[in-house]
Amino acid sequence: MQEDNQALRAMITAGWRTRLIYEGVRTGLFDALEETPREAGALAAELGLDGETTFRVLRALSTLSVCRHAGASSFAITPMGAQLKSDAENSLRSLSIHWGGRVMASLGTIGHTLETGEPGQGGGDFDGLHASTFDAQAFNRTMAEQSRPVAKAMAQVHDFGSYDLVMDVGGGFGGLLTEVLLANPALHGVIYDLPAVEKGAADYLADAGVAGRARFTGGSFFESVAPGADCLVLKFILHDWDDAECAAILANCRAAMAKDTDLLIVERIMPEIVQPENEDVVRQDMVMMPINGKERTLAEMEKLGADAGFALVDVKPLTEGCSLIAMRAV
Ligand SMILES: C[S@@+](CC[C@H](N)C(=O)[O-])C[C@H]1O[C@@H](n2cnc3c(N)ncnc32)[C@H](O)[C@@H]1O
Repeated sequence: MQEDNQALRAMITAGWRTRLIYEGVRTGLFDALEETPREAGALAAELGLDGETTFRVLRALSTLSVCRHAGASSFAITPMGAQLKSDAENSLRSLSIHWGGRVMASLGTIGHTLETGEPGQGGGDFDGLHASTFDAQAFNRTMAEQSRPVAKAMAQVHDFGSYDLVMDVGGGFGGLLTEVLLANPALHGVIYDLPAVEKGAADYLADAGVAGRARFTGGSFFESVAPGADCLVLKFILHDWDDAECAAILANCRAAMAKDTDLLIVERIMPEIVQPENEDVVRQDMVMMPINGKERTLAEMEKLGADAGFALVDVKPLTEGCSLIAMRAV
């Protein structure tokens, strides 16, 4: 009973953690903190922040173990907090900005959807997102960084050896494509995404060392999908849209594909009955709700595919709670 009570209190009050870590990232505090303790006043002066508030925020962050209260008003970074630095390997900075900003604001609209059935944000406004440099950079980098371990796992369980050209539809900056190309040195790849993503994707692919085998084609998958690839990938695309929109995307994919070629869908699969350990997929379902997207069961995905001319051929677990759902154009 006492344990339940404490667990419940932690859940009720959890939002302050998301927000405070976000502010520490956004204002540059985590980048400025060092292993050697620094004075809150000096950090505030350097970053153009209020001194007293900086002290109180750092003191609060110390209780989350992302920094350490080292002296009266001095603070040092911890190994956990160092993962929020811009230059950390697999940095969680972008995730924090994405969650603390857009996601938290969007979750605030769930009550409206609960009462009306209407999405609080009216559908995926990716053009609007890409128009904000700060949000778009955080979103696209978060997607790319989260996609890399998933793509690594995918390259291990799926044989890309028979393909010449793989196209990642809605591939963003190219985190997934990067890992697939690194694992398959003869393979070439294309990212098909909105034109606004091109510059960031080109920079990302160049930094990742695969620009020589990867290119970008701009366009909207609601109008058409570029032909020519012998394998199409859709990772975290279908969950952004309602069934009618998914049907349109899948129809355009099918129109771009020859018979018997592969469509590789990567999504989290919603269990028919959920358990507490399914938090990843249901949390993501709530994140999708305000933009009219949803996480689907395997049966729901199989039906969407079948209606668009695809047969389900294989399902394999990957990492991060994701699965590879392989379909073939029939
Ligand atoms: C949730 S992100 C997934 C990114 C990437 N597949 C991944 O998992 O890392 C959705 C992607 O779909 C792209 N997108 C949204 N609307 C699109 C459209 N109409 N045509 C092509 N791409 C679109 C977005 O720009 C974004 O890169």
